[in-house]
Amino acid sequence: MHALILSSSPNTDGLTAACVDAVRDGLSAGGLGSSEVRLTEANIGVCRQCDDGWGTCRDDHVCQVVDGFQSVHARVRDAAALILVTPVYWGDLSESAKAFADRLRRCEATQGDHSPLAGRWFMGIAAAGGSGGGQISCLEQMERLVGHMHMKRWDLVPLCRWTREAKLQVIHASARALAQAADGEI
Ligand SMILES: Cc1cc2nc3c(=O)[nH]c(=O)nc-3n(C[C@H](O)[C@H](O)[C@H](O)COP(=O)(O)O)c2cc1C
Repeated sequence: MHALILSSSPNTDGLTAACVDAVRDGLSAGGLGSSEVRLTEANIGVCRQCDDGWGTCRDDHVCQVVDGFQSVHARVRDAAALILVTPVYWGDLSESAKAFADRLRRCEATQGDHSPLAGRWFMGIAAAGGSGGGQISCLEQMERLVGHMHMKRWDLVPLCRWTREAKLQVIHASARALAQAADGEI
């Protein structure tokens, strides 16, 4: 079993990347392997609101728009825990994270407790590297997403450039504890 880290910044050496490193190292310290999907490189388009608003997501729990979504969806469904690390854009998830999250929610929320994601741990990180504004509104979106998919909230961590070093330590410690909790349930 392993954890899946979804990251959604185009920058490979910015605040989001530093958070991903802290998550990966923390999970590893807790004994859980992980892999990362960089959503900006995953060729995932936006939901097309098929037909009358619902496509195959409602009853078949798969997205009928074929692109990079399907392979990442499969990896999410296989993961013991899901960690989403997004830069804060406009007080919200970045666009690549939002595109993926919108489509994932449609496929999984429609299964209720039968979704393979239901009952699994979720950790969300909002990296606000500009003004620092929008950390909470970004996490609020993640909280709603997690609730719709019946996942368990492990942690929701806001950070900005001024809290960077302190919060990277928090993220490492939280990810390490998450690995240990997930291990107990595997
Ligand atoms: C379109 C856009 C919108 C942004 N909106 C916010 C914001 O609402 N609050 C904030 O603190 N920073 C904002 N930023 C700055 C990013 O959060 C910042 O650049 C962050 O460090 C990006 O992560 P990265 O270093 O991994 O690229 C925005 C950046 C972009 C490109």
